[in-house]
Amino acid sequence: MTSLLQSLERRVVAAPMAGGPTTPELVAAVGAAGGLGFLAGGYLTADALADRIADTRDLTAVPFGVNLFVPADLDRDRDRAAVQEYADRLRFGARRLGAKLGSIDWHDRDHFEDKVTLLLDDPVAVVSFTFGIPPKHVIEALHACGTEIVITVTDPDEALAAARAGADALCIQGAAAGGHRSTHDAAAIPNEDSWTELLRRCRSVSALPLIVGGGIMTRAQVEFAVQSGAAAVQCGTAFLLTDEAGTSAAARAGLSDRTLTQSVVTRAFSGRPARGVRNEFIEQFDDFAPPVYPVVDQLTKPVRAAAAADGNYQWVSLWAGTGWEAARPGPAAAVVEALHPTRLVRPQAVSSGGGADLD
Ligand SMILES: Cc1cc2nc3c(=O)[nH]c(=O)nc-3n(C[C@H](O)[C@H](O)[C@H](O)COP(=O)(O)O)c2cc1C
Repeated sequence: MTSLLQSLERRVVAAPMAGGPTTPELVAAVGAAGGLGFLAGGYLTADALADRIADTRDLTAVPFGVNLFVPADLDRDRDRAAVQEYADRLRFGARRLGAKLGSIDWHDRDHFEDKVTLLLDDPVAVVSFTFGIPPKHVIEALHACGTEIVITVTDPDEALAAARAGADALCIQGAAAGGHRSTHDAAAIPNEDSWTELLRRCRSVSALPLIVGGGIMTRAQVEFAVQSGAAAVQCGTAFLLTDEAGTSAAARAGLSDRTLTQSVVTRAFSGRPARGVRNEFIEQFDDFAPPVYPVVDQLTKPVRAAAAADGNYQWVSLWAGTGWEAARPGPAAAVVEALHPTRLVRPQAVSSGGGADLD
């Protein structure tokens, strides 16, 4: 990863954003602007991911990455009753939208093994992993193909484990980040540490190149990150409203509704903690969702789809980081350009302070 990160013209990585926002067009545009784009492999079958890789290659010759979710084994006997209780709560709302709850698959592994096979048969420059550390044989096989490996971490323990497992770089996700927190244990309560705090603490356990993210929306933040020793920044929310993003019309409308004023971390939509803009769905269900990912995600999927088709953004997941109000429409290249550091800031110690990321 050192080589790829070092060859970047711009220190900006466009975060993989599964569920729609990431498109081949977005990945290609970010690469053309000198950044690093990532296809989001989460939720896709291997065939669908293969199509997106092919489409991206049709658009660009610049290297790009692919992101995969690391699956965890589910404990049906332990969690079935809690899931049933949550489903009973959701059902009434689902009916109002004319939707049924999704069916449950306790063996869902997000097609992980098939997608790894695809990436071994047809390698890409870099693969990043979220929600955990992939098995050793996967890391070894990808390395043997020349693929560099990034593992997303949310605390120093995860950073140490990822470094020991053979990652080439770590992606440090601060608490301000939009979308799912990449805690390696789905049931863990995520910390509230900013990337600035985590950068300092993870640096003390690993000398690997560190990509940082979570609430980064301005050039000043990127300059601070680079000055603090980050190899690059990973931004998702800043790209959500760009022309090339596949963000749904309903989500675009919700993210632009200034009467929605809070971003919160919730398990309500998927069972895993994830940050999004607080809407009616979160208000109604946040207190009740069991920590059973991806089963809760399976249940709510048709409900979210029905709401999105109706343009009802009160019932879709408006995943976004704390800086969402600064997201703007326009070309993705303009976002890369606006974030790229143009000067070095005064050297300073990385803050050891609390939850908020630097503005
Ligand atoms: C809509 C959305 C979807 C996301 N999907 C993924 C994903 O599929 N894989 C992943 O590793 N991270 C995902 N993330 C998290 C990003 O990798 C990154 O941590 C986050 O965007 C950084 O914070 P920011 O959104 O404030 O820039 C997603 C973020 C958002 C906003």
